[in-house]
Amino acid sequence: MPRPLAILGSTGSIGINTLDVVTAHPEAFSVSGLAAGGNVELMVDQIARHRPSLVALSDAEAAERLSERVRGQNVAVRGGMDGVCEVATMDGAETVVSAIVGAQGLVPTLEAIRAGKTVALANKEVLVCAGELVVREARGQAALVPIDSEHSAIFQCLAGEDLSDVRRVILTASGGPFHGLSPQQMAAVTAQEALDHPNWEMGPKVTVDSATLMNKGLEVIEAHWLFDLPPERIEVVIHRQSIVHSLVEFVDGSLLAQLAPPDMRLPIAYALSYPRRLPMSQPGLSLVEIGQLSFERPDEETFPCLGYAYEALRRGGTMPTVLNAANEVAVQAFLEGTIAFLDIPRLIRASLDRHEPRPVASLDVVLEADRWAREITHEAVAVAADGG
Ligand SMILES: NC(=O)c1ccc[n+]([C@@H]2O[C@H](COP(=O)([O-])OP(=O)(O)OC[C@H]3O[C@@H](n4cnc5c(N)ncnc54)[C@H](OP(=O)(O)O)[C@@H]3O)[C@@H](O)[C@H]2O)c1
Repeated sequence: MPRPLAILGSTGSIGINTLDVVTAHPEAFSVSGLAAGGNVELMVDQIARHRPSLVALSDAEAAERLSERVRGQNVAVRGGMDGVCEVATMDGAETVVSAIVGAQGLVPTLEAIRAGKTVALANKEVLVCAGELVVREARGQAALVPIDSEHSAIFQCLAGEDLSDVRRVILTASGGPFHGLSPQQMAAVTAQEALDHPNWEMGPKVTVDSATLMNKGLEVIEAHWLFDLPPERIEVVIHRQSIVHSLVEFVDGSLLAQLAPPDMRLPIAYALSYPRRLPMSQPGLSLVEIGQLSFERPDEETFPCLGYAYEALRRGGTMPTVLNAANEVAVQAFLEGTIAFLDIPRLIRASLDRHEPRPVASLDVVLEADRWAREITHEAVAVAADGG
């Protein structure tokens, strides 16, 4: 029987890649539910192709338009975040793909965990803003399987291993489009230039995060929660080719790495078919054509966001929640052309400096820290936009 899926964020880059994997493997997967933000046209198309029984758009007005468009088809349409949560917990789905971008994905992902679903996790912000809570809720309830290529690589290298034999993990980073530039050169870069990633086709937020190296910082925090490792045992190296997706070093000094072409369909397929592997039609790697693989230390002075993420993780509590929220607001403002690229780290730094972290005792504590950080970062964006 094909495994029934619910896909949260189906209209985004990960969602579309997930549906590609489903289309290529109808014997392995079927689609029970889809959820997204407001992209009515693409959702109409996805309903026609994949025949889910339940769909939701968090934008209630867009959900009404969608409802009109698919009237007479055998699909229930819901609007608002409650509707997205209904898809996340629906009876018909075994595995929930968490691929909404940003902290918006937290509540539906938590709901899926509470409903005992296997969660294939792309949305790293969920673990950054509420890792302690998510891991606590998942314990004994649900399996969390990473989709992020670096964490999938580590997950694959750890198969059959004992976590107590791990000395450290090494996350690889492409370095993004501004690798090698000086701060002076980066001062005037545009959103379009930031969106031009050398190796990966991704949504706009994660692409800008790659350009600031915040993406790798978020991934350090994600690795901390997924693999229960302290920050000093999680390292980052720049690897421009994006062929080695990450590595694990064991206590005997052996390093295991996972290599594959940079194509998100591979870690998505692994997360969905785990613990088995699916045959994929994509060509493998030609090591001889690649010739050489390079590794270098990240430049944390020019790209301070990586260090801010380590700092937030070490300080703990709601500090990573604030890091994440400030980053989301600053990246959105940069994409809208309101602030400059170098304002992104500056505004995040300012939010961290003003925050007194609290223990993550409940979802309410997380949501309050998230709301506070968004508010003060929006204020700082307005000041920066006025030339302050
Ligand atoms: N793209 C990659 O290769 C990649 C790799 C590793 C990890 N990730 C992680 O995966 C997540 C998704 O990234 P992406 O690149 O796929 O992003 P994306 O292309 O921007 O897609 C985001 C998805 O989230 C939906 N969404 C946004 N706000 C929503 C809300 N309030 N309620 C419900 N749905 C909402 C969007 O729906 P509408 O478009 O309909 O509004 C869209 O389906 C991110 O956390 C990212 O860090 C991505």
